[in-house]
Order: sequence, then structure tokens, then C-alpha cells
Amino acid sequence: MEPKPLPGEHECGAGGRREGAMRILVLGAGGREHALCWTIGASPLCDKLFCAPGNGGIAEEAECVKLEVADTAGILAFCAEQAIDFVVVGPEAPLVGGLVDRLAAAGVKAFGPSQKAAELEGSKAFTKRFCNRFAIPTARYAEFSDDAAAERHIRAVGAPIVVKADGLAAGKAVVVAASVDDAVAAARAMLGGRFGAAGRRIVVEECLAGEELSFFALCDGRNALAMAGAQDHKRVGEGDTGPNTGGMGAYSPPPMLDEALSETIMARIVRPTVAGMAELGRPYRGVLFAGLMLTAEGPKLLEYNVRFGDPETQVLLPRLMSDLVPALVAAADGVLDKFALRWRPEAALTVVLAARGYPGPVTHGSAIAGLADAARLPGVMLFHAGTLREGGRLRANGGRVLNVTAVGRDLAEARTRAYAAIARIDWPDGFCRRDIGARTPR
Ligand code: AMP
Ligand code: GLY
Repeated sequence: MEPKPLPGEHECGAGGRREGAMRILVLGAGGREHALCWTIGASPLCDKLFCAPGNGGIAEEAECVKLEVADTAGILAFCAEQAIDFVVVGPEAPLVGGLVDRLAAAGVKAFGPSQKAAELEGSKAFTKRFCNRFAIPTARYAEFSDDAAAERHIRAVGAPIVVKADGLAAGKAVVVAASVDDAVAAARAMLGGRFGAAGRRIVVEECLAGEELSFFALCDGRNALAMAGAQDHKRVGEGDTGPNTGGMGAYSPPPMLDEALSETIMARIVRPTVAGMAELGRPYRGVLFAGLMLTAEGPKLLEYNVRFGDPETQVLLPRLMSDLVPALVAAADGVLDKFALRWRPEAALTVVLAARGYPGPVTHGSAIAGLADAARLPGVMLFHAGTLREGGRLRANGGRVLNVTAVGRDLAEARTRAYAAIARIDWPDGFCRRDIGARTPR
């Protein structure tokens, strides 16, 4: 790995701002935002980096600001006070809520889609209709807002079948039902208000079989630039067992994602999406994260996210050789066609350390030690997901707490390095899956 600049090394001194360098604000508080800050802070185009609200690890890369991502008025005021040139929005909720539109109206440039474009994540029904209209391959579906009609449909189609709440529900409102009764129960729970407004409408879709892949492309409203792919591990237990989580680990590149598959995904899914959104007057700018199933008939879209993945970003960005900042600005400015991104051939893998009890309730506040020792190992980077620095000690402050990431010549080396780093971390209240990346060829 190239040596990373020390915190503060990229800030200019008393001489004032460097030509073209920007004051940048990253919004969010997780491992994804730590990886973004680590990457953006190292760019010569970054004059000063802030993160709101950030976390105990992000504080080493950026000045953390006590502002929640939902506090639109506070964010607008901060951007004005601090003469922020560019905002990078991490999570989906403020995008779906229209933050980028509000920033644009205030004259602040931001990376991320407008509210109308963010509907690709904000409404699964919108995305399914969109896919049908523009012939983008996806699972067959029907939408319902009435439980008797949903039940009739589910019983007529049979299991396995997938039931999804239409709106944002922190990734929890998808049930892959093995039986018709489970599917009917899920549909009733969703339509009965279990996920609030997000479940007022549901999508019931065909269950697809195959390998899952996360694929990322930068988009500028007209052009799309393929980034890279990753695979994550969603279940909490080894061997992909137990409840779903936000992700327990990830790796990149996925062994099956060659040039030909990447081009197929761009040609059949990503470019038609960018063209379709432009046609609908909702030009898509930002990163498009396609959750795909590689079926026997080719890649099919499971869902779109309108932001970087977590923990996928923690393995994508360590592989990026090019400067990310001009690419993000080009996406916002509509000039991505002049861009190319270079990637390291090395592999990256990240293992999530979570607090005992996750994804259920966890206790906060236990002390974590040994991080400096772990970070000294070759190729290792620690991205904090939920930590707090208190009186010089690092404490757990969330369900997913740390992303122990390593790069290596191949996935096997990255994996060995990540688990060697974990062995140096002293956190009795934490746990991780021991089998991240184990399914992949060595
Ligand atoms: P989503 O939030 O839409 O990505 O769904 C969460 C997870 O549910 C996905 O990562 C898949 O593992 C699974 N899933 C979603 N839709 C389908 C489908 N149509 N067929 C099979 N599995 C699915
Ligand atoms: N890792 C999946 C997500 O970010 O939604």
C-alpha cells in the first residue's frame, strides 16, 4: 500500500487555500463514512475535511461535527458558516428525504441523487415499474396495498416467494419466504403497519436463485462509469446462518466478476437505468449500487441503493488507485464521460467486529484495546463503524463496531491478514464471523 498521509498533512498551512482545493463535508457515522473520509482526506484536492456526526475513528481523518444527518437546517447553516464547497452524503435516508435538492437550492454542490432520482431506493414499487418500462431484467412481481389481494396472489403463485415493504426500512423489510404461510404472514405484518409508512404498499416477487453480487457505478445524469464489485455476508452466523444483518463482512473483487460480466451489467442494467431516469426527467447523479442475482438467464436486479454500500465501500476504496474526489465532483457536474478510474489488482477483505447480541439489542460502552498493534500489520486498515473516543479510551458505541480490513495479493492473503489483525484486538464484548471470504476460491 502507498503510505497514507498523516491526519492533517493534507491541510494547507497559514498560506491559505491551495488553488482548486475544497472544503468537504461527509455526512454519516459508519464504516462506510470512515472509508470515504480516509480516501477523501488523502486527496490533494481536499483542503479541509469535516464529517457529521462521524465517530471515534473518523475523528482521526476529519473534524467531526455534532450534527445529525437528519438535521437539514443545521447542515445548511454549517455549510454556509464553513464555506463548504462539496458535500458527500453517505446514507440513503437524507437522499430520499431531498437533502441534495435543498443543498443545491442553497448553492452547495453535493454528491448524491436528487429526491426524485433517489426513489430508486426509496420505493421498491417505483423501481419495479421502472424496470418493466425500460426492459431491465429483474424478478417478476406484483404490488399490493390490500392484504386479501396479496394473500390470493401469494397462494396462487406458491413458495418460495419474496415479500418486500415498498419504502425505506433499514434493510429489514425483505422476507424470502420458504412457505406460502410465511409469505402471507409477512405480507399481513407489513401491510398491518409493522414498518410504518414503508409497508403501506408491498411488492411480492419471484424468488431468484444464483450467486449475489454488489455492483457499483458512478453516474452523472447521462453517463455511467463502472466502478467495481463486491460480495458481502448478510447473515450473522457462520455458514450463512441466523438472522440478517447490515453485513458481517465483504470482499472485492468477486472472483466471477470479469470484464465480460461487468460489461453485461453495464449494458443491460446500469446504462438503461441512467437513460430511463433521464427520460423520466429524474436524471440520476451519484453512485448507483445494484444488488444483483447472477441467474442462469444472466444478471437480474434485486434492488437499487442510491449510495455506497456498507461494508462494501470498506473493500472498494482501498482498491482504488485514482483520486476519488475529482470523480465524485465530475459525477455531480455531469462530466463523467471524460473520466476513467484505475483499480489495484490486489484483493481487499473486511471482517465486521460486532457487539455481542447484534443484530439484537447490544450494550454500549465496553473498552476496546490493541487497535494500534493491529493497524501496524502489513496491508491492514481499521475502519470504525460504531466507536466513541472517551478520555483517550476507545469504546463500543453501536451494533457493528469495527471493520477490520486488509489488502493482499489475493483474497486468501487479504483474509489471513485481516484475521491476524483481529487476533491483536482486545475486545471481550465483541464477536465476528470466522468465515468471511472462505467460500471463494483460494
Ligand atoms: P434487498 O434488501 O432487496 O437487497 O433484499 C435483501 C436480500 O434478500 C437480498 O440480498 C437477497 O439475498 C434477498 N432477496 C431479495 N430479493 C430477492 C429475490 N427476488 N429472490 C431471492 N432473494 C432475494
Ligand atoms: N451492504 C448492503 C448495503 O449497504 O445496503
